[in-house]
Amino acid sequence: MIVVSGVPGSGKTCFARLLSKELNMDYLSITSLVQEKRSTLSSGFDERRGSLIVNDEALLNELRRLPLDRLVVESISPSLLEGLPVQVVVITRCPVRDLFFRLERRGYPPQKILENLEAELLDVPLIEALNSFGEDLVVEVDTSVVDKSLNLVRSVLDGKVRPPVFLPRDKDAEFSIFEEILKILRK
Ligand SMILES: Nc1ncnc2c1ncn2[C@@H]1O[C@H](COP(=O)(O)OP(=O)(O)O)[C@@H](O)[C@H]1O
Ligand SMILES: [Mg+2]
Repeated sequence: MIVVSGVPGSGKTCFARLLSKELNMDYLSITSLVQEKRSTLSSGFDERRGSLIVNDEALLNELRRLPLDRLVVESISPSLLEGLPVQVVVITRCPVRDLFFRLERRGYPPQKILENLEAELLDVPLIEALNSFGEDLVVEVDTSVVDKSLNLVRSVLDGKVRPPVFLPRDKDAEFSIFEEILKILRK
């Protein structure tokens, strides 16, 4: 199975769907699966985050029944899939400014936009993936350059590129964009 993870708005759904088509695999969203089967896969509702609480054990049992080698699985949290047979973990990213506009277009309130931008700047999904699966499986992609990113994942699966693959960072530039965005949101 191929895991696709990243902060909301980073392009998981679009990229995972494209990748599954390209590789002739099936696409599965953990969020949708838990919604659909919430009576067994969820243990309640997190009011603050506005999302279902996942029952980790029940989710793993459910997934183990599926043909995992055929699946591209999108999950906000890669650690939920720890212990399953994973070929590669793709972390989707996009430029912080793009992420801001994508989340704004989605109609997220300022507080939620900030939380997600912060998670992106602090590499939350990446660190979670590295902790759960180790460096040898993790590949970061920039979803603002789709074809290049699809090719990269293909090269990793073909053994031509060896993970980890990290995107270049300019943290100073990212944080100054973050401050700019903060000013916009405070207006
Ligand atoms: N390559 C891309 N170029 C431009 N916009 C994109 C791209 N990928 C995704 N988007 C836009 O960004 C938003 C978030 O994408 P989505 O795949 O739903 O992210 P996620 O599943 O991580 O929340 C969507 O509105 C989508 O149209
Ligand atoms: Mg999505």
